[in-house]
Formats: sequence, structure tokens, C-alpha cells
Amino acid sequence: TAPLRDLAAARGIRIGTALAADHLTGTPAAVAAREFDAVTPENEMKWERVEPERGHYDWAAADAVVAFAQAHGMQVRGHNLVWHSQLPQWLTTGDFTAGELRALMLRHVTDEVTHFRGRVAAWDVVNEPFADDGTHRAGLWYRQLGVSYIADAFTAAHAADPAAKLWLNDYTIEGPGPKSEAMYALAKALKQQGVPIDGVGFQAHFALGRVPAGFRATMQRFADLGLDVAVTELDVRMPTPPDGDSLRQQAADYDAVLRACLGVTRCRGLTVWGFSDATSWVPGAFPGQGAATPYDAHYRPKPAYRAMAAAL
Ligand code: XIL
Repeated sequence: TAPLRDLAAARGIRIGTALAADHLTGTPAAVAAREFDAVTPENEMKWERVEPERGHYDWAAADAVVAFAQAHGMQVRGHNLVWHSQLPQWLTTGDFTAGELRALMLRHVTDEVTHFRGRVAAWDVVNEPFADDGTHRAGLWYRQLGVSYIADAFTAAHAADPAAKLWLNDYTIEGPGPKSEAMYALAKALKQQGVPIDGVGFQAHFALGRVPAGFRATMQRFADLGLDVAVTELDVRMPTPPDGDSLRQQAADYDAVLRACLGVTRCRGLTVWGFSDATSWVPGAFPGQGAATPYDAHYRPKPAYRAMAAAL
């Protein structure tokens, strides 16, 4: 059957994958280039990677992923600019005033967006701003700068590359609940204030059988604010090893997520957070769980892959 990217293009959406710089050769590279037309560097653009020592940038790994994407006609989603996690140690342990931290954040956003100007179509400008109860996550940025860090990051990113689309991105916002409400209120406020925000990304890291029934309606509600939406980090984890029933349920979950996106005109695409169980982050992050992607550990398509192809 046709590659997912051809089927997706005919439906007017992009189908993407997270990709790491150490998977740009051999089978992983061949499958990625054949099936997907969008790439999110899995870790290579995070602050701890691009500025491991203060003032010394290392863009090599991120540049390699971007070059691979360009060589294969894949759009790049930049991930990410401002987040509470995977920050360099010099930053988290440094004794900085709030004013200094704000200047460091703005300089980081400006320098990274400038470096990739014209090569990154969309940025996750602020990643995971909320805690599960819908309060602002008490990470470095909110603790030190308050809520203003969010608008400031978007404004700086827009100044550095006016053509890049700028996104908020988070998880557990896919169905009704306090976190989704908080994200909605933030997106609405930013729009009303004229902050240059283009979209809201729904990470969609799901447990088996737990795709919220209201996912399509939730995306539509955000889209009605005048924003694009996308599924940015889909995976569906399960206790390992999988059996036939769990793989069938997983296929139903992938189908539901893809159909939710296809049901919203402003849903620009769906990105899986790694396409093979060989490289997925899930077993490392959720002990005892895995098998979360559409390909098994030997790069053979699973029922979830066939469900996506059929839904497209
Ligand atoms: C994960 C990567 O996949 C791992 O390799 C890394 O160790 C931790 O981060 N939400 C995000 C992504 O926005 O950046 C995370 O990626 C997964 C959860």
C-alpha cells in the first residue's frame, strides 16, 4: 500500500515522527523518509543539547536532523524553546536573578530561532506550561518570571523568524479537565492580547484504551479560537509484552486519534513520538510499559500502522 505520507497529503494533513540524530542511517532512516513528511527532532533542539556550556552553542545534531528532513521533503517542527525540563546544568544551578533569567531566556529563543530561520516551519515555543490540576507548572520560568514568560517567549520567537508558526504544546489537554481548561484560557488570552501564537499542540501520550472520547471536540474548540491544532507526540503505551488483544486495541486508539484530527479542518497533522518500538522513549519513562508505536522493534508494521493507513 501507499506510504502514509502520500495518503496524508491527499487528505491535506502532514504525518510526522520524532526522529533522533542517531537514527539517520539504515532501516530507521529509510522507513522515516518513506512514510513521514514531517520531523520533530526528539531531543536535539532542547536547550541542554544546543547550549551545554554557557555561551557555547552546539547545533551539529539538530542541523543533521534538519538536513535529513530537507533532503527528504519533510517539514521540521522545532522542539522546543522554553520548557522546565532538559535545561543545561549551568542554567538550573546558576545563581541568576529574575532579570538575568529573563534575558537568558530571550537570548536563547532569539539565537535558536535565528539559527534555524527558514528551515523550521513551526516551533513549540512553550512546552508543558501546566500542572495536572491546571495551575501553572512551578518550573524555573514560572517560579522566577511569573506568567509573563509565555508571551515574552512568543514575541521573541516571532521577531527572530516572522514566517515561523508558533505553538503552545502540552499533554493531558486532549479531553475535558482542569489542564485542558487552563490551556484553553491561556490560548484565548494570548490571542486576545495580540501575542503571535498560531497553534496549540496536543501531545497525545496515551495509555492503552484511554483516548478521550472528546478529543475531536476539544481540538475543534481550540480551533474555534482562530488557532491551528495538531497531534504532536502520539504514542499508546501498554504493559509489555503485547498480545493480540492489546495490539488490536492500540490500532483502534491510533485510528481514533487520526480520525479526530481528520475531523477538524484546522488540524494540520499528526506526529508520532517515534515510529518504532525499537527506539521509543516509553519503556524508559514508564517502567513495564512499551510497544507504544506503529512499528515493532524489528521495524515491521503493527496493526496500529495499518489502522492509520486505512483511516487516511
Ligand atoms: C522525551 C524524549 O523522547 C526522551 O528521549 C527524553 O529522554 C525525554 O524527553 N514530552 C515532550 C518531549 O515534549 O520532549 C519528551 O521527549 C516526551 C514528553
